Amino acid sequence: MRLSVFHSASPQAFTIEKLFYITLAICAVILAIVTVALVYMMIRYRQRGAAEPDQRTGNRTLEIVWTAVPILIVAALFILSVVSARAVDRPVNRPPDVIVTGHQWWWEAQYPAVNAITANEIHVAANRDTLLEIDAADVIHDFWAPRLGRKIDAVPGRHNFVQIHPDAPGTCEGACAEYCGAEHAWMRFRVIAEEDAAAYDAWLRRQAEPSIQPAAGQAALGAKRFTELTCSNCHTIRGVNPVNPFAPDLTHVGGRERLAAERIANTPENLTQWLREPDKIKPGSLMPNLKLSDSDVHALTAYLEALK
Ligand code: CUA
Repeated sequence: MRLSVFHSASPQAFTIEKLFYITLAICAVILAIVTVALVYMMIRYRQRGAAEPDQRTGNRTLEIVWTAVPILIVAALFILSVVSARAVDRPVNRPPDVIVTGHQWWWEAQYPAVNAITANEIHVAANRDTLLEIDAADVIHDFWAPRLGRKIDAVPGRHNFVQIHPDAPGTCEGACAEYCGAEHAWMRFRVIAEEDAAAYDAWLRRQAEPSIQPAAGQAALGAKRFTELTCSNCHTIRGVNPVNPFAPDLTHVGGRERLAAERIANTPENLTQWLREPDKIKPGSLMPNLKLSDSDVHALTAYLEALK
C-alpha cells in the first residue's frame, strides 16, 4: 500500500486515522445541516410577489445557541487532538533503536546497538516498540511513514523522536514530507518489519558484519576500481574504507530492494544505468557522473550487486 493514511499498520497510525474519521464525521454532519437549511431557505423564501419577509433581530436564544454550539464542537476537536497526540507521542526515556538522518536526497539508518549503517531501508521487528531518532545532515526534511506513525521533522542540529509499533511483518513505504530541494520527491524510504525479534536480530547481525570481498572475476576488478575511481571518497564499504557520512553506506547494498532512495529497483540493469548517468535517473542528485568506461561500469555493477 503506497503511502496510505487510510491503512494504518500500527497503534500510533491507527490513533491518527481514528482522529481523522471522527473529525470527518463531525464536519460531514455540519455540512449536511447547513446544506439542508440553505436549500430549505432558498425554496421556502424565494421571491413570490413583492412582499418582504418578516424581519427579526436580537433573538437571544438563537444568539446563544449559535455561539455555544460551535465553541463546543471546536473544544471537542481540540480535546480529541490533544488526547491523540499524547497517545502517539508517549514520553520514553531510553536510547533510540535506529538513528535516521535525512540527507539530500536519501535516508541514512544507523543501528547504534551493533554499529551498522544502511540507507533508505529501515528494518525493525514487528509487534515491538521501536524508537527512532530523526536527525538531518543538511537542510530540514520530514520523516513520514503514514501507515506507521506521525510526521516528524528532521532538523539540523536537533534530535527528534518518533515511536512506531508495526502490527504485522511486512513493508511500509515512507517519504520526505518537507520540501528540501530538487529531488525531494525521490527522497523515499521503506520500513521493513521483520517477523519477530529473532529475525530482526539475525538481520542486524548480518548488517553489522563487514562486507565479504570477492576473490576473483569481474567483482574483484570492481572492488579495485571502487577505490581507484574515488567512489570511496563519499561511500563507505565497511572492511574496505573508513566510514564516510556523505553518501549511502554500500557495505551490504546488494541485499537492498531499491536504489537511489526508492527511485529504481535494485537490479544489475538499473545499477548499470545509475552508474552511467545518475543525473538521468535522479536529476540534481549529488552522485556525480564520473563518465565511467563500459568495463568499469560492468565491474562495479558486479561488485556492488555481490555485496549482500
Ligand atoms: Cu528531504 Cu524533502
